[in-house]
Amino acid sequence: MVADLIGFTGEVRANMLRWGQAAMEVLGPLNQRTAENFPVAGELYAWCSQVKAEDLAEGSVGRGIFDAEARGDIPPDTAGHIIHQYLGAGVDTTIAAIGNIVALFARHPDQLALVRQDPTLVPAAFNEVLRYWAPVHAWGRRATKDVTVAGADIPAGAQVAVLFGAGNRDPRHYADPDAFLVERNPVDHLSFGYGPHGCAGQGLARLEAHAVIDALARRVDRLIAGPEVRVPSNTTRSIDKLAVLEVIPA
Ligand code: HEM
Repeated sequence: MVADLIGFTGEVRANMLRWGQAAMEVLGPLNQRTAENFPVAGELYAWCSQVKAEDLAEGSVGRGIFDAEARGDIPPDTAGHIIHQYLGAGVDTTIAAIGNIVALFARHPDQLALVRQDPTLVPAAFNEVLRYWAPVHAWGRRATKDVTVAGADIPAGAQVAVLFGAGNRDPRHYADPDAFLVERNPVDHLSFGYGPHGCAGQGLARLEAHAVIDALARRVDRLIAGPEVRVPSNTTRSIDKLAVLEVIPA
């Protein structure tokens, strides 16, 4: 979806999964994953620093970003950076969310049945998937002034890791937070971040995820899946492999 939207063609299309993953691994603490992924992320940065409108498919959003730059609606030399953001931010996050949808409905067939009985629950079900298993567990902010949060003093200039996964399970905010309930509709979950820099691609992520949940609910009664195989990542909490052993149609 992201490839078609931005208008990636040829070599970059073939590289986007590697590049998207590497862009996530070079965030966060410096560790072995960061070191291994810098060269791959470097390929992405190099491509984004020289990409031109003609490299992107006609009629794509990517071309639209270059058109905006040519009109002066965005500052000069920013189109490549914006395209880099979309590629870096829109690939592994959505992959994680879609994997989580499949795994959670395999674990909770009663919740899938609720969506089948009432398809208007699809958006609520995705909100609950995002609340229950946040694809990104922690994200950074820098304090612009001294502030006290729940008794903790945070000085101006401090870097803070905001723990979305923990906030999404806060028992002071969500009743029975460890239960996966598609009727809960937690519209205020934190998994897309918050404020002016909240996820810029959440509309697209919702379109994709709603299509997956809608199709699953209509076509599938039960999914029998094997164990979720996870590999650690510096940014996303994602399922690496999930064997769907049996699909019982609706
Ligand atoms: C379920 C899928 C997704 C999740 C869970 C997710 C999560 C996030 C989070 C946590 C942030 C940081 C927000 C903050 O700082 O408050 C973010 C930012 C961003 N996301 Fe997403 N994202 C998803 C899909 C996408 C897609 C599909 C795109 C674009 C194609 C995208 C583009 C962006 C961009 C450009 C930013 C930076 C916004 C800014 O700093 O102003 N994301 N996303």
